[in-house]
Amino acid sequence: MNEIDPRSRVISVFNLVAAGYDDPALRFFPFCADRLVGRINPAPGSRVLDVATGTGVVALAAAQAVGQQGRVMAIDLAESMLDRLQEKVEKFGVRNIDLHVMDANSLDFRRDYFDYVICSFGIFLLPDMVAGIREWARVLKPGGRVMFTAFGKRAFQPMMERLLTRLEHHGFMSADEKTTMASIRLAEPERCRELLFQAGFKEIEVTTEQVGYHLKDESQWWDVLWNSGMRGRLELIPPAEREDLMTQHLTELQPLMTEKGLWLDVETHFAAGTKP
Ligand SMILES: C[S@@+](CC[C@H](N)C(=O)[O-])C[C@H]1O[C@@H](n2cnc3c(N)ncnc32)[C@H](O)[C@@H]1O
Repeated sequence: MNEIDPRSRVISVFNLVAAGYDDPALRFFPFCADRLVGRINPAPGSRVLDVATGTGVVALAAAQAVGQQGRVMAIDLAESMLDRLQEKVEKFGVRNIDLHVMDANSLDFRRDYFDYVICSFGIFLLPDMVAGIREWARVLKPGGRVMFTAFGKRAFQPMMERLLTRLEHHGFMSADEKTTMASIRLAEPERCRELLFQAGFKEIEVTTEQVGYHLKDESQWWDVLWNSGMRGRLELIPPAEREDLMTQHLTELQPLMTEKGLWLDVETHFAAGTKP
C-alpha cells in the first residue's frame, strides 16, 4: 500500500473500512454531521453538494434539512462507502440524494450550480487542498456557502501520540511521516482560515467544538483506528506483529481509563466561507 499514489491509497483504504465505518465507536462522524448541517442551516429547496460523503452521514442530514424540493449530491471516490449510503437511502426511502463516484478535485457539475458545498473530514485528504476548494468554489453560486470540518490539535490525544510513537519505535513509521499525517494538516484553526482566504472566500468563520465522548474501553479505541483512515497504516504491519503492537498499546492506555470509560477527544474545527 506504501508504493501507490495518494488517490489509489485513499480508494483502497476507504473501500476496506466501509464495512465497519458506522461502528458506534466512531459516532463522532454522525455527531459532527448533525452539527455541520445545523450550523450551515440550508434553506428548504436548496441544492447541496456533500464532498467526500463516505457512508453519507452528512448527506442524509442535509437531505432532511432541504426537504423534498431540495437535492443533495453525494460524491466520493470509494465505491464501497457509497454502497453503504445506497443501502441507507433505500432503507429509509430517501428520494432527494444522488450518489456519484467522483473526485473532489474535479467535479462534473457546471459552475454556479450549488447553494452549499459541505465536506466533513475529507478536505485534508486532498493532496492539493487549495486547488480542491477552488474547484468547490467554481460550482457554488455567488453568495453560496462552503463549510468543512477538520480535526483540532487535541483530537484523539493522548492515545494517538502514544500509538504513533510506538509505530515509530517499531519501525512502521518515520518521524517525518508522524508530523505530516493528513488528519493534522488543518489542526490549527488559522490553517482553515488561510485555506478559505486563498480560495477567495469572504465572511470566513472558524469555530472549534469538542465533539468527544467516553468509549466503553480501550478495545473501542482500536475499533476507531481499525475502521478509519489509520487502517492503511495498520495494514502495513504483518498480522502477528500488529497483534503484539495492539496488545502493548492497549495495555499502556489502561491508566487512562476512568469509571466513565476512556475519553475520546474529538476537537473539531467548523470552517465556513461565502463565495463573493
Ligand atoms: C474520513 S471519511 C469522511 C466521510 C464522511 N464525510 C463523514 O464525515 O463520515 C473521508 C472520505 O473522503 C473520501 N475521499 C478522500 N479523497 C477524496 C477525493 N479526492 N474525492 C472524493 N472523495 C474523497 C474517502 O473515500 C472517504 O470516504
